[in-house]
Amino acid sequence: MSQLEKYRPHLHFSPQKNWMNDPNGLVYFKEEYHLFFQYNPNDSKWGPMHWGHAVSKDLIAWKELPIALYPDEYGTIFSGSAVVDWHNTTGFFPDEPGLVAIFTHHLENGADKPPKQSQSLAYSYDNGRTWIKYRNNPVLEHESKIDFRDPKVFWYHPSNKWIMMLATGQTISIYSSPNLIKWYFESEFGDNMGSHDGVWECPDLFELQVENREESKWVLFVSIGDNPNSDKGSRTQYFVGSFNGSVFKAEQEKTNWLDYGKDNYAGVSFSDIPEEDGRRIYLGWMSNWRYANDVPTYGWRSQMTLPRELGLRKLKDSYSIVQKPVQELDYYFTSKEVIHNKWIGKELQFDFEEPYGMITLNIESMDATKYRVDIHHTKSNVTSVIIDAQKQLLILDRHNSGVTSFSDNFSIQQEIKLPDTQKIELSIVIDSSSIEIFGNRGVFAITSLVYPDKACEVISLRALGGEIKIEEGYLLKPST
Ligand code: FRU
Repeated sequence: MSQLEKYRPHLHFSPQKNWMNDPNGLVYFKEEYHLFFQYNPNDSKWGPMHWGHAVSKDLIAWKELPIALYPDEYGTIFSGSAVVDWHNTTGFFPDEPGLVAIFTHHLENGADKPPKQSQSLAYSYDNGRTWIKYRNNPVLEHESKIDFRDPKVFWYHPSNKWIMMLATGQTISIYSSPNLIKWYFESEFGDNMGSHDGVWECPDLFELQVENREESKWVLFVSIGDNPNSDKGSRTQYFVGSFNGSVFKAEQEKTNWLDYGKDNYAGVSFSDIPEEDGRRIYLGWMSNWRYANDVPTYGWRSQMTLPRELGLRKLKDSYSIVQKPVQELDYYFTSKEVIHNKWIGKELQFDFEEPYGMITLNIESMDATKYRVDIHHTKSNVTSVIIDAQKQLLILDRHNSGVTSFSDNFSIQQEIKLPDTQKIELSIVIDSSSIEIFGNRGVFAITSLVYPDKACEVISLRALGGEIKIEEGYLLKPST
């Protein structure tokens, strides 16, 4: 394997060369999913930002295309979104609907002045292959706000207007517009709400139907940047509440995390998925600002999480996001039941020498104090999922998963407190350099990079201090 291909994922998008961060401009148009992304074409470290571009028919196999947006006199191209202007609100599309990108221009102003961030437009007549920057850019500026970025725009049907969610320091500002060009301030959300561990970035707001109930809620994603005083690095929180076209109101005070792993940041959802489909699908950048620039890939850096379908579940006294890989992933696997109502006293092993795969397990613990799923990448490297019944924790331990020396932080355990460790349902997706765990029908996720020499050789299940019962266990191998 060439050095360039080492750690290259099979199921996840990664750029052929050089640096990538946030997903941008996620949109479905004319039977293609578009993924634009923060891209530095000159280096495999973060640098002057462009929008890279890839397209897919099924959200799993992506084709990288030429760079979509280049820096210009207003600055480099930071994160943003894309929409289809179905009704020619902009005037750009007299003949047929097309794509509009709404992004942040980031302009450096020298050492003694802060940079300037403003929002701008570009539009495309050829399904996102080439772009024309709007002649009167920027369309939205602020006199004093320095952090003023990452516009996520959607069409709000009840009042027939565009809504922009914008990250403004430690808050999210909401703007509206009839035409994407003239923007009006509506409200600001975030004071004393949720976590303020880092700068607020990359918001997204959308409505979700609550599972098995005749109600829907609005969900706001807010990513928070790295804070050197916290182990967690950069991560994403969400709020559940209501939106009236102008103001978002959160209903829950406690901070909700979208993912309990380290490596899911800046996630936002696709725009314009057809109503007949009806899914809300998002993906995140599968890395963490704490060590993203140092991960041991050669010639390219970063990959995206699997695209995930979002739902909302009512728990006892709160609502929780649920997420699962999009169903398109099923075509990449053949599935085989390998365990059925089996008791495990000590250990059970499965040979699983595959470039990628998945395991799903329904586990019931009888009296075990701990139980674990070990993904043996090679003889000496293992990533462990440990359920500690006494501490009521699920832990992902990657300290011996392969190369970890590029960051002290990388080996710190990732964990989630669970109300019930007696019964647990796990789906674990394994790729060349990542592990994604979806638990209890998606009510929690743990997304984590790993850098072993091989994806997997053996998977083992082990019970400590007692027994566990596997009601069902499936191994999913690559389909041929
Ligand atoms: C989030 C972020 C965004 C910004 C972009 C710059 O990871 O910091 O706020 O637009 O990355 O690359």
